[in-house]
Amino acid sequence: MAERGGTECVDLSTKGVIVGEVAVRPGEVVLVGGGPGDPDLLTVGGLKALREADVVLYDHLAPVACLSETRPGATLIDVGKRPRGAQTAQHDIDAQLIRYAREGARVVRFKGGDPFVLGRGGEEWQACAAAGVPVRVIPGVSSAVAGPALAGIPLTHRGVTQSFTVVSGHVGPDHPGSTVDWDAVAALGGTVVVLMGLTNLAAICARLVRGGMPPETLAATVADAATDHMRIVRGTVETLPGAVSAAGLQSPAITVIGAVVGLELAGAGS
Ligand SMILES: C[S@@+](CC[C@H](N)C(=O)[O-])C[C@H]1O[C@@H](n2cnc3c(N)ncnc32)[C@H](O)[C@@H]1O
Repeated sequence: MAERGGTECVDLSTKGVIVGEVAVRPGEVVLVGGGPGDPDLLTVGGLKALREADVVLYDHLAPVACLSETRPGATLIDVGKRPRGAQTAQHDIDAQLIRYAREGARVVRFKGGDPFVLGRGGEEWQACAAAGVPVRVIPGVSSAVAGPALAGIPLTHRGVTQSFTVVSGHVGPDHPGSTVDWDAVAALGGTVVVLMGLTNLAAICARLVRGGMPPETLAATVADAATDHMRIVRGTVETLPGAVSAAGLQSPAITVIGAVVGLELAGAGS
């Protein structure tokens, strides 16, 4: 740590954040954000780490096509996280990361989007750190940003909105486990992006209207963004749940709510 101009200046390389050098060291775990699905949206650093790994534990929301870039003989372990599919328990994933690293392997945890955006990457980091295993992160392109962009919806737009808020819809608004302040979200006025919210979409939209969001607020759901079967359904916060259900959209999907949905950038999202 160094002092500069009276403020604390932290050397990020000592904090496990990769700046510049990417090599995965033996006995180390690197959490790699794979982006939303298109191999082209994996970062250069993420690809380098994947190519160096001895062991890769991967999710299905990651761009699995990139696994062909791993070294011959690398161990590839499917830990699930398929939408609606089989899951490996988080404690089991943590245990495998630690075990392979302790055996001296270069371990990559290959995840969808960004590891630290509703991705449990922080938990995996903490588990490794608690076990004394060195861990670093290579951030990824989050579906929260890429999904709307690929649908032609800018999250902010000069003269329209200057903010966006990302929330989890994993548990419904009236579920005791929900920690989202839905009244505050309804009142924000900027763009709202809901991840993991397809099952609870009707309840979320109704809750936002109950919290004061005008029912005519524009909204869109983007399913399978960054894949060749991406689908977009548009409506208002009042009509979207019915339209999404009628269209039969399935996870993974994100919902964008706000005036930016009306911008309809020419030629985008088609
Ligand atoms: C467990 S969260 C992981 C988010 C991930 N860490 C990220 O930054 O994108 C999974 C949710 O991300 C969203 N998601 C991930 N990939 C997506 C994609 N290709 N298209 C649409 N939504 C996606 C969906 O809302 C899905 O339910």
